Amino acid sequence: MLARSTLHATRAIGAAKTGATRTAQRNASTTSSSGSSATWKDNALLGSSTALAVGSVAWYYYQFGRPAHAMTPSEEGLHAPAYPWEHEKLHKTFDHNSLRRGFQVYREVCSSCHSLARIPYRTLVGNIMTNDEAKGLAEENEYDTEPNDEGETEKRPGKLSDYIPSPYKNDEAARAANNGALPPDLSLMVKARHGGCNYIFSLLTGYPEEPPAGAVVQAGLNFNPYFPGTGIAMARVLYDGLVEYDDGTSATTSQMAKDVVEFLNWSAEPEMDQRKRMGWKVMAVGGVLFALSVWVKRYKWSTVKTRRMLYDPPAMKAKRPDNVTVGSAFRK
Ligand code: HEC
Repeated sequence: MLARSTLHATRAIGAAKTGATRTAQRNASTTSSSGSSATWKDNALLGSSTALAVGSVAWYYYQFGRPAHAMTPSEEGLHAPAYPWEHEKLHKTFDHNSLRRGFQVYREVCSSCHSLARIPYRTLVGNIMTNDEAKGLAEENEYDTEPNDEGETEKRPGKLSDYIPSPYKNDEAARAANNGALPPDLSLMVKARHGGCNYIFSLLTGYPEEPPAGAVVQAGLNFNPYFPGTGIAMARVLYDGLVEYDDGTSATTSQMAKDVVEFLNWSAEPEMDQRKRMGWKVMAVGGVLFALSVWVKRYKWSTVKTRRMLYDPPAMKAKRPDNVTVGSAFRK
């Protein structure tokens, strides 16, 4: 059955090619009569409606389409350079060794000021550490139990289902401890800032030894060219050798920044590895189905495309002039 239909299809496709050119010729010869009927009114109508359409698109863009900047680009801070992040490539996953190191940097450095409130311990299992390691880590912290009959809560050690604890009780306490500035939650930080990974990496590694001459830095703030306004309440936190990595990677400032940024990208997009794998599957299956559908379409249409219409005029009495041969175009 398949063999027969394939045979038909190849024949039909061959015929369709020659058929298509003839159809074009036929159609071309029949349009000549209607061409002269367009008056200047038609043209004017067409022209003005086109102008109206283009004009309304332009007006709409002028009103709503342009980006609105609260600040000028120079006030936004220095634009972060684009680094060649391996995990951002379409066919790459997170480097899970890097995630493990990045989580260590978060825990040992950032977690004293920044919360990571959307990440429960259970998500670390299999991504960053083993089940036992994550359980051990959770048990280091205490959480409230469910209220008992008198409404009293007690303390219990953490479980895998608990969320990573925040360093401060509430935002007010966080501000009070940081000179009035709130250290934002880092769970979704990579998605929350323009420039994502590039921006956070540049921010962490971009503190100069001294602010450049002429720069005004308010008391309590630190100069960082990548931060909008250049005065940031967070001081430089990463210095060479600040943490000691389990796997022996040397903990330079940029290595730690890279690891913690990749970890923060994971915390903002934990589904990334799976999303990419699913994407490739969809492309593979979708590609095959698309090719099949093209083939089936050509197969089904081949009879229509190769159809030939014949006009057999009745014999005429009067002799035709020699230079006109009726139906010659169709009888090749
Ligand atoms: C000593 C406390 C402290 C530590 C430690 C700390 N930060 Fe911060 N961080 C802050 C404060 C305060 C702000 C708010 C800055 C501001 O708004 O001026 C901040 C802001 C940020 C921002 C947001 C910048 C923006 O565009 O709004 C990021 C990202 C950030 N920190 C990442 C980190 C990372 C990653 C670490 C660990 C390597 C870390 N911080 C360690 C106090 C800290």
